[in-house]
Amino acid sequence: MSHPLHIAIIGAGLAGISAARSLDEAGHQVVLFDKSRGSGGRLSSKRTDFGNFELGAQYFTARDHSFRQELKTWLDAGHVEEWTPRLYQFDQAGLRLSDDDQQRFVGFPRMTAWSRALLEGLQLVSSTRIEQVQADAEGRWLLLDDQQATHGPYDRVIVATPAPQAVPLLQAASQLAHTASQVQMLAGWTLALSFGAPLDTPVDACFVRQGAIDWISRNSSKPGREGPDNWVIQSTPDWAAAHLEDSKEDIIRQLQQAFADVLGLQLPTVDFAHAHRWLYARPDQQCDWGALAAPELGLYACGDWCLGGRVENAWLSGIDIAEQLTYG
Ligand code: FAD
Ligand code: NAI
Repeated sequence: MSHPLHIAIIGAGLAGISAARSLDEAGHQVVLFDKSRGSGGRLSSKRTDFGNFELGAQYFTARDHSFRQELKTWLDAGHVEEWTPRLYQFDQAGLRLSDDDQQRFVGFPRMTAWSRALLEGLQLVSSTRIEQVQADAEGRWLLLDDQQATHGPYDRVIVATPAPQAVPLLQAASQLAHTASQVQMLAGWTLALSFGAPLDTPVDACFVRQGAIDWISRNSSKPGREGPDNWVIQSTPDWAAAHLEDSKEDIIRQLQQAFADVLGLQLPTVDFAHAHRWLYARPDQQCDWGALAAPELGLYACGDWCLGGRVENAWLSGIDIAEQLTYG
């Protein structure tokens, strides 16, 4: 490498983190910005008095060779463990066991413990929402946040946010902004429920994919999740679109009922219930872009939406951009 670049990455989800790690290892000076207090983006663990809940990604699979190699290092370091739920499927015939050979992995002991471990040694500026990316007189990049503070200048900027949030940040690269604006992201509701006594069901996880519910999992069946019988219920995109503006109380009531119907149970008293709305849960399409680049400007974009809404794809998209920046 001729000289290390100063690189800003907007978004400390998995795509931003993988780009940051790879660029840091290549000798560049990298700073991540995130509007949240923490990091991990849609890898999200909520801590409560009733234990933790995974409100975003539930698990991940690993199909790409290079990602599987990374996975091995995370497993060896204890940041990730395999999760082998008693897996069910719900359809017209009702609830039935749907075990398969697919390996599924989770962060240990929480999803965000993994993303936090990946951030170690990297510089993160949290609670900072970037609103504009602007060129200075020398053609380097300044970031303007929502408190009117300026950050930079940087030689390169990588936008690693969901596509709709990337569009205003990519205005200086109109082709990238246009491409990102073609991606719609679908909303989703997540319900977290905690019960004082374990529910009387063999189900640890269930693909439902119809009506209100997309997916159910017994959060406490994942490795390292100690504490009460905690469940996560995720809505289908269609149901979320139809109930986007419902009150959280209504969402809790409706998803709780749908959950009871799927499991065929009369639910005991709920100790804790929480509804979380994801405005940008998943891209509406699969792409094969890898990442987006305007190298002549030094502006780049990555994220799951460049490949398809999965954890592995977010990681690979970040690596793609790091390789483009490092090897040209
Ligand atoms: P994100 O994780 O969204 O990261 C983007 C980051 O950018 C965020 O931290 C955000 O705060 C930040 N940001 C946005 N705008 C700004 C700004 N202006 N300034 C500063 N920071 C900004 N995938 C699976 O493989 N398996 C699953 O089981 C699974 N389940 C899911 C369930 C749900 C409910 C959801 C929502 C997603 C699920 N996914 C799952 C998808 C997976 O979570 C995503 O593909 C992946 O986490 C996306 O990572 P990312 O880095 O591309 O984006
Ligand atoms: P995967 O291989 O476990 O699942 C892929 C798809 O195959 C599932 O969506 C499901 O429809 C089907 N499937 C897999 N195993 C099944 C089984 N045993 N029985 C019945 N159906 C089965 O995982 P992959 O490919 O890594 O996908 C990631 C997961 O993340 C998917 O389940 C996806 O829906 C979910 N996701 C959820 C989001 C949300 O907002 N709720 C956003 C993005 C992804």
